[in-house]
Amino acid sequence: MSKWFPKLYDKLMAPLEKKKLENIRRGLISKAEGHVLEIGSGTGANFPFYKNASHITAIEPNPNMIKESLPKINQTRVPIDIRQESAEVLPFKENTFDTVVGTLVFCTIPNPRQALNDIRRVLKPEGKFLLFEHVRMGNTTLSSLQNILTPVWKHLCDGCHLNRDTLKFVQESEFHVNNVTSYYNGLFLVIESTN
Ligand SMILES: C[S@@+](CC[C@H](N)C(=O)[O-])C[C@H]1O[C@@H](n2cnc3c(N)ncnc32)[C@H](O)[C@@H]1O
Repeated sequence: MSKWFPKLYDKLMAPLEKKKLENIRRGLISKAEGHVLEIGSGTGANFPFYKNASHITAIEPNPNMIKESLPKINQTRVPIDIRQESAEVLPFKENTFDTVVGTLVFCTIPNPRQALNDIRRVLKPEGKFLLFEHVRMGNTTLSSLQNILTPVWKHLCDGCHLNRDTLKFVQESEFHVNNVTSYYNGLFLVIESTN
């Protein structure tokens, strides 16, 4: 786990966040209701946008990311607990959460299928699963470029796969995909599903 990546993450992302991503986050996160689990909460970029949730449980495996996120808890209207855990093995009982949120995280989770299975287990029946991810692009030239860049990118960005086909993983799991919205020619997707 990188130490420098958590320190630089907000600065590196700031131009894109201001231009587009913040609005996407705001729209998606406003749909999170009840007891929410956020997976891979990172530096807490989503924390300021929760308004309809009653309580957030955030999990994040990198302690340096957790440290960076702590100041953002004060900008949040709802209580947040952060725990150092990984999405593949969630330390919660079946049917605990009303909503599970993940943003820009499935690119980095080492075993995305295992994480999806465990998210289904802890999410209530009919519970919402809200994702905002960068993904493998549909255009063959661009996805080949993503394949070429991924080994170096992964090294620089703490395990991030540029070419991860997260929508396919979600479709292959037992979630019901209700809506998919594409941004930047399919580089980013908002994927809204239910359990
Ligand atoms: C690119 S950052 C995104 C952080 C944040 N979700 C956001 O939208 O800015 C990816 C995050 O996934 C976390 N991560 C890596 N492996 C994970 C796992 N197995 N389970 C949960 N989170 C993980 C990383 O530590 C990192 O904080």
